[in-house]
Amino acid sequence: MRFERSHTRKAAFLAVASSLALLATACGGDDGSSGSGGSSSANALEGRGPITLASGKDTSGNLQNQLNAWNAAHPTEKVELKELPDDADAQRQQMVQNAQNQSDAYSVLVMDVVWTSEFAANQWITQIPEDKVPDLGKLVPATVETAKYRDKLYGVPITSDGGLLYYRKDLLTAAGITDAPKTWDELLADCQKVAATPGGKGLNCYAGQFEKYEGLTVNFSEAVNSAGGQIVDKDGKPNVDTPEALAGLQELQNGFKTGAIPKAAITYKEEESRRAFQDGKLLFLRNWPYVYSLANKTDGSSKIAGKFAVAPLPGKDGPGVSSLGGHDYAISSFAKNKATAVDFINFMASEAQQKDNLSKTSLAPTWASLYDDPTLIKQFPYLPQLKASIASAQPRPRVVKYGDVTAAIQQAAYDALSKGTDPKTALSGLQTKLESLITQ
Ligand code: GLC
Repeated sequence: MRFERSHTRKAAFLAVASSLALLATACGGDDGSSGSGGSSSANALEGRGPITLASGKDTSGNLQNQLNAWNAAHPTEKVELKELPDDADAQRQQMVQNAQNQSDAYSVLVMDVVWTSEFAANQWITQIPEDKVPDLGKLVPATVETAKYRDKLYGVPITSDGGLLYYRKDLLTAAGITDAPKTWDELLADCQKVAATPGGKGLNCYAGQFEKYEGLTVNFSEAVNSAGGQIVDKDGKPNVDTPEALAGLQELQNGFKTGAIPKAAITYKEEESRRAFQDGKLLFLRNWPYVYSLANKTDGSSKIAGKFAVAPLPGKDGPGVSSLGGHDYAISSFAKNKATAVDFINFMASEAQQKDNLSKTSLAPTWASLYDDPTLIKQFPYLPQLKASIASAQPRPRVVKYGDVTAAIQQAAYDALSKGTDPKTALSGLQTKLESLITQ
């Protein structure tokens, strides 16, 4: 009897324990993370059928063609594009809202590389076992890192991004300048020289993206990094109250004060600044690789096709440091048909798709060997430089509270550039704010 009773108790205990274990797996508790999201268990990558792709506005014009190719081959697992705004912060906001509502409206998310920690920690996106992505080892390692949170993969890098200096080669040549500037001081001196030539009339010197949104975080970070500073140090601690960061911010502030950067640039995002360059209004432009194809179009949309070239960003004593940009495809935890989503992501990551997309759009691929492909280098002579720029690019802070961190950076930089706030005061205020947000 004794034995029987204890046996029964043991059986009951085992039944409870195993259902608790099942529950833990179903809730994604197996990776030790906590959050408000759905399952992050690898077992949940199931289900086949139609899916959606939530993506920022496709300025390249080729995304729908890629989706059409997938759809033609997968008639029962079609992907429908849900196009979001072109401003990265607005995209994030819609994706966060979608996740907080636990909606299944977005299956695959085209995520800016800076959102991974926040989305993974909240379990808004699903962990992807590395063996489900056969080509992962073929991708540029720095891009794969952007898709990881606590060493686990939460997305697959589909496009990368590195900042480039676009310049009017025709106008530099006419002013007797043979090489692109390597430093910010050389760039300013080149502007003076070109201003004295007939082609320099009505031309502005330089623009980047200075509207108050993610692009400002990028441009501010590049100015700080290129002047030898850091936003966070190697241990992840905020580090902006430094002479180097000050030099970077002053460079931009002085640019606005002296008119080297036109006033209008305070309203520029990627597209506004690209249009100014294409309309022949700028000598130098900081922008991403996607601009190369569009600015070279000969259909009348660009006034400068064939007249410009591309160089690394300028720095203090030599080339500067780019921010690491790009997009990873992740699977919403609340999505249906996750098995289809994984296959679709692998299709977009494939060498064939990446090669075709690069040659049509000049969007930076994540497939490493494409940067060394002679045919592609002929079409895009800057590919080797871009490869080096991405490999040495500085990631923005990889933190769970990234939304708050970038908002604080944007506020400090915007105040200094648009209101003339003393840069030292702006940076010490930013340091205090970042210390309260980044506690690792
Ligand atoms: C590009 C980059 C992205 C960055 C954004 C800023 O889309 O790929 O990483 O955050 O520009 O506007």
